[in-house]
Amino acid sequence: MRIKILTLFPNMFDGFLNESIIKRAIEKGVCSVEIIDIRDYSLNKHRHVDDTPCGGGAGMVLAVDVVHRAIMDNTSEVSHIALMTPQGRVFKQSVAMELSKLEELVLICGHYEGFDERIRDYADDEISIGDYVLTGGEIPAMAISDSVIRLLNDAIREESHADDSFSTGLLEYPQYTRPVEYDGKRVPDVLLNGNHKLINEFRRKESLRKTLLRRPDLLDDYPLSEEDVKMLNEIKEEMK
Ligand code: ADE
Repeated sequence: MRIKILTLFPNMFDGFLNESIIKRAIEKGVCSVEIIDIRDYSLNKHRHVDDTPCGGGAGMVLAVDVVHRAIMDNTSEVSHIALMTPQGRVFKQSVAMELSKLEELVLICGHYEGFDERIRDYADDEISIGDYVLTGGEIPAMAISDSVIRLLNDAIREESHADDSFSTGLLEYPQYTRPVEYDGKRVPDVLLNGNHKLINEFRRKESLRKTLLRRPDLLDDYPLSEEDVKMLNEIKEEMK
């Protein structure tokens, strides 16, 4: 998969691309990530990319012509072009999965007060990483590419994060490692006895418990099995 990121701040991606799993995924050829400087498409001798808003008001607005040239020069019919904006659809694991199937994903990072509304016409998608406003689209672009690359990496290694929080639609069950006892806190006995049927039941129930306590909204859309309903009733009894 190819990921292209159009930004006014290419240096922000140095750390992101040169560490850990993302670096290894790129080295292994799982994906390529190209950072494109939008400023290279300014025709202005000072490389300006923004201008004052028509109609007046504070701040500067990213100009449509500069971004359009950057898009035209770096995309083709296979590109899926997504604008980073708090006005977009909210990013979640299911969107990461959808994007991970693409041949080429192009992420456009806005900055300053906003971008010329007409830029929207050159994008296929608009994505927000949550209901808060950041200073630019770079952190959203990193968050989105990180979660997408992680899924690709997984596919190549033929491992699965099928139990991840959100992959199943529920939050992940608690995990433990040695020591078995630390500061008076013990790893649940069921995880130490090697009985995989009991371990799976425990994990399912704890996953339901976490979801019920922390994100009950996720249960509304979740296709609960009869066994899940039984476990949830037990949890509610235990909570009384
Ligand atoms: N740009 C600024 N804030 C953003 C957000 N929450 N999501 C995506 N892009 C943004």
